[in-house]
Amino acid sequence: MMPAGPLLAADSLHKAYGPTPALDGADFSIHGGEVVAVMGPSGSGKSTLLHCLAGIVTPDSGTITYAGRELSAMNDTERSALRRSDFGFVFQFGQLVPELTCVENVALPLRLNGAGRRDAERTALAWMERLEVDDLGGKRPGEVSGGQGQRVAVARSLVTNPKVLFADEPTGALDSLNGERVMQLLTDAARSAGAAVVLVTHEARVAAYSDREIVVRDGRSRDMERVV
Ligand SMILES: Nc1ncnc2c1ncn2[C@@H]1O[C@H](COP(=O)(O)OP(=O)(O)O)[C@@H](O)[C@H]1O
Ligand SMILES: [Mg+2]
Repeated sequence: MMPAGPLLAADSLHKAYGPTPALDGADFSIHGGEVVAVMGPSGSGKSTLLHCLAGIVTPDSGTITYAGRELSAMNDTERSALRRSDFGFVFQFGQLVPELTCVENVALPLRLNGAGRRDAERTALAWMERLEVDDLGGKRPGEVSGGQGQRVAVARSLVTNPKVLFADEPTGALDSLNGERVMQLLTDAARSAGAAVVLVTHEARVAAYSDREIVVRDGRSRDMERVV
């Protein structure tokens, strides 16, 4: 059963960089556990919308409400604490720390939250197993393939049991076969963990893994009827 209201909602977001409006009245909402694809051509404002929703970028106007709290009413410390406790992130290029092994990368968010090394790495390995990369624990990111690296990045994004996973073109650097596998594992893992997913992509094939799609054009969003 869906909760009464959305977990995360944005209303009439505006954001300009100089004279260019990146967002021009964008709305958005997602319920707990839902997977929503944000589609649209390059430059349409998808990443800006994601960064606003995640409290990384402050919009010029409009409101964002997460679990009943308005993001703009929080100070920077509160917002970054919220990001660490409730949000997970996956970007186009995994952005793993090259000096750390894969298991150390996945364990890192737990270590930063104060967990001991053994506990953190045990939890990390369990997530790596779900993403089918547990055999890569001792390797460094430079020694694994792009698809493997993204699966490690997905494991790292979920290791803290976030309520919302933000994924910006998570398969953008992968070939279609590896992209499909990453999407399958990402959505399966997020759904079984009950995490909502904000999935930014310009590929219909990737968006097909979502429950619902919204389209962003020139900084404005609209719901799209799913044609099945
Ligand atoms: N940090 C920034 N500085 C200046 N312009 C930006 C910045 N981020 C985004 N933009 C501009 O805002 C518009 C939307 O960008 P973006 O949200 O990255 O789109 P998308 O993710 O859909 O490709 C583009 O015109 C882009 O050039
Ligand atoms: Mg983008």
